[in-house]
Amino acid sequence: MKTLPIHPSDLLSGNDTQGLHVEHVALESVANEFGTPCYVYSQSAIEASWNDFTSHLAPLSPMVCFAVKANPNLAILNLLARLGSGFDIVSGGELARVIAAGGSPSKTVFSGVGKSVSEIEFALHSGVFCFNVESEAELDRIHSVAGRLGTKAPISLRVNPDVNAHTHPYIATGLKESKFGVAWENAVMLYEHASRMSNLSIQGVDCHIGSQITELSPFGEALDRLLNLVEQLKEKGIPIEHIDVGGGIGICYRDEIAPLMADYAKILIDRLKGRSEHLLLEPGRRIIGNAGLLLTRVEYTKTAGDKRFALVDAAMNDLMRPALYEAWHEVRAVKKQGGEQVFDIAGPVCESGDILARDRLLEVHEGSLLAILSAGAYGSSMSSNYNTRPRPAEVLIQGTRAMLIRNRETLSTLWKDEIIPAHSASI
Ligand code: LLP
Repeated sequence: MKTLPIHPSDLLSGNDTQGLHVEHVALESVANEFGTPCYVYSQSAIEASWNDFTSHLAPLSPMVCFAVKANPNLAILNLLARLGSGFDIVSGGELARVIAAGGSPSKTVFSGVGKSVSEIEFALHSGVFCFNVESEAELDRIHSVAGRLGTKAPISLRVNPDVNAHTHPYIATGLKESKFGVAWENAVMLYEHASRMSNLSIQGVDCHIGSQITELSPFGEALDRLLNLVEQLKEKGIPIEHIDVGGGIGICYRDEIAPLMADYAKILIDRLKGRSEHLLLEPGRRIIGNAGLLLTRVEYTKTAGDKRFALVDAAMNDLMRPALYEAWHEVRAVKKQGGEQVFDIAGPVCESGDILARDRLLEVHEGSLLAILSAGAYGSSMSSNYNTRPRPAEVLIQGTRAMLIRNRETLSTLWKDEIIPAHSASI
């Protein structure tokens, strides 16, 4: 299979009697072998999204830096590195993961508003491609760390283009009031400041206006502002080698019309073709979002007033998006067993907000398996151990093979770093 997962259910195949499959593997057999809850990814779907993303942009020969926060599993990063991906990181931990996965620091950009001294040192030692700097104080800090290490730090400023990406407020980052980036009005002044710092080497301009953006015009507006900045900097004698347009291109979760890569690429190509600056991008969700699902089993069904609940073994600690953003994820019964009814899909966590999906018409019985779709991005990566719940196993499907890429956590590892102070023993 090499089809691009455009709609969430494009990841699935199989029929009513066999049950749902990912590639050529039955989800029922994945559940039997690895248990539930379990994240399941399709290698061919990841490859298809990667190829769709990169092939349309090929006329600009960009460096595509996968946003590690979307899915940091080593096997996923390794697969992407083999496909030619660079990486966008926001912590020293993510840099260590990139290296552990066989990715290249020289194709890695370091974003994020709060880089610590030790993270900056680690990134300089590793030879990252560029720091995306988000404040004047950070410029000063990187300059001083680079000076101490006797090196020059490659930098871009993340500029806040003040465009409205029309997305969920928690994931819009390009507005004036956002904590991210430096204000548009101050950008030239800060570049001039940076150009006087001997341990900084100005490489590029950068922006990231938000995530799950399904309109194309904000991308065009943001890039126009960046290009205007590049011209202003040129006039000041500050040459720019690359333009990093960030990530943010959306996918379909429910009925959103996700932008076609051809149309997104056209916006960039129209503005950048023939220019000397090299293009960088930082997609996360678009590459992996619809290439993964969360497989869960129904423990109980119950009614409460007019409501009917399916209580499943996955919860908000495994997939936080519905509780945090009221995000909608499509849910499918793995096998049709007859008797559709409307259910809320709820997890075992002790929070009223632990509802993974509301009002879904589904065939659900005790013991049935459900697939929660579009969970490849910001699913596992945002999971936690709330309620002392071990995080799920993760499985990568490759044709007829199901490969374990993360063990289910074991209970003892959850408290292995906790310490009962000696005096407590005498109580
Ligand atoms: N670059 C930077 C600097 C970012 O902050 C992000 C995402 C990306 C790239 C990748 O964005 P993408 O292409 O995946 O939209 N947890 C939220 C999403 C938070 C996104 C944070 N930044 C969610 O589950 O929807």
